[in-house]
Amino acid sequence: MKKKMKVLGIETSCDETSVAIIEVNGKSVRVLFHETASQIPVHQIYGGVVPEVAARLHVAETVTLLDRALGFNIEYRMSNVECRSVKTKSPSAKFEIRLPAGKAGNSKFGFDAIAVTQGPGLATALRVGIEAGRTLAMVTGKPIIGVNHLEGHLASAWLIPENRRHWKFPMLALLVSGGHSELVLMKDFCDYRVLGRTRDDAAGEAFDKTAKLMGLGYPGGPIISKLAKQGRADAFDVPRPMLHDPSLDFSFSGLKTAVRRIWEGLSKKQRADKQVAADLCASIQAAIVEVLMTKTLAAAKKYQPASIIMVGGVSANQQLQAALRSGVRRELKGVRLLSPPKGFYTDNAAMIAAAGAWRFIQGEKHDWKKLDAKPELDL
Ligand code: KG4
Ligand code: ZN
Repeated sequence: MKKKMKVLGIETSCDETSVAIIEVNGKSVRVLFHETASQIPVHQIYGGVVPEVAARLHVAETVTLLDRALGFNIEYRMSNVECRSVKTKSPSAKFEIRLPAGKAGNSKFGFDAIAVTQGPGLATALRVGIEAGRTLAMVTGKPIIGVNHLEGHLASAWLIPENRRHWKFPMLALLVSGGHSELVLMKDFCDYRVLGRTRDDAAGEAFDKTAKLMGLGYPGGPIISKLAKQGRADAFDVPRPMLHDPSLDFSFSGLKTAVRRIWEGLSKKQRADKQVAADLCASIQAAIVEVLMTKTLAAAKKYQPASIIMVGGVSANQQLQAALRSGVRRELKGVRLLSPPKGFYTDNAAMIAAAGAWRFIQGEKHDWKKLDAKPELDL
């Protein structure tokens, strides 16, 4: 595989359909095309991701986005047709995909290789992207690679030129998403050691589940962090699980249980009080942030990385970013904290293409005939 290449990325592991084309040329990386169709408005109706619904929406959106990325310019919109078959409880919940206007791309087969998320994720959702990738590999003869979604999150921080200039191994990664909370030592590209992981719920799940039990909606992270701005972080005594445990593992299910107990202990009037909800949100956020920050600093002191990256949906949390930034500045002299471009914290195909490029550069590829989803894949 030559070092200069255009990689087509396809991501369908959960509730975002995303397609990207990136061009990698030595140290230069350009995102030539990137569009994500979020299914969040649909899953909000159900209070969480419904796998079958996700897979059906991916079918429609993957075709639409590939069409735009590759410039087939086929005039059709499957999304609304498909979405009508989704039984919605509320008429206001009609699913509308908002795609930017204009010509998105006209480079028919303008890519050298295909990177598609292989796992972890929802099996039926993953298979939609994989089948699309396999079909393209078959008809174009281009190489394909199944990408570990978690490696994709690690690669998201590599999309920023400034970060690539400071990309020195060993690196420590705090990878916090809806399904994963991990501290990873990156010894080199594609060479990782997981130092700690969650023993039960992930940090994103803690946000999502506590928001759900408070009746705030989905996804919980952005909702809680928005409400937390008006709240007092010391208003409720939310536990910091495993904060003083010598391991680098996390555990967030106890936090969720504690919040349930607090919420159920409130009167109906208190629960309807916006200030009480904001206070509880601020307390939840402070607890999660403190655990993530403390463990990351402890891992950094132990493993002495050259830099730290924070990636995954939860790392979009401004409170977490501020806490980690000041913690690193205060306690880890000379260590840089790197994060993905804005909008690339949550699932996207540019990061999948980037991780695919890492693998292609190392000479790896998969046989499209055998590529299948690996829903339980880990780093
Ligand atoms: O990385 P991601 O898009 O998907 C997975 O791979 O899981 O992460 C989604 C998670 C959700 O749990 C969501 O609540 C959380 O990221 N999230 C946030 C924020 N934005 C998204 N959590 C805290 N604060 C945010 N601002
Ligand atoms: Zn993700």
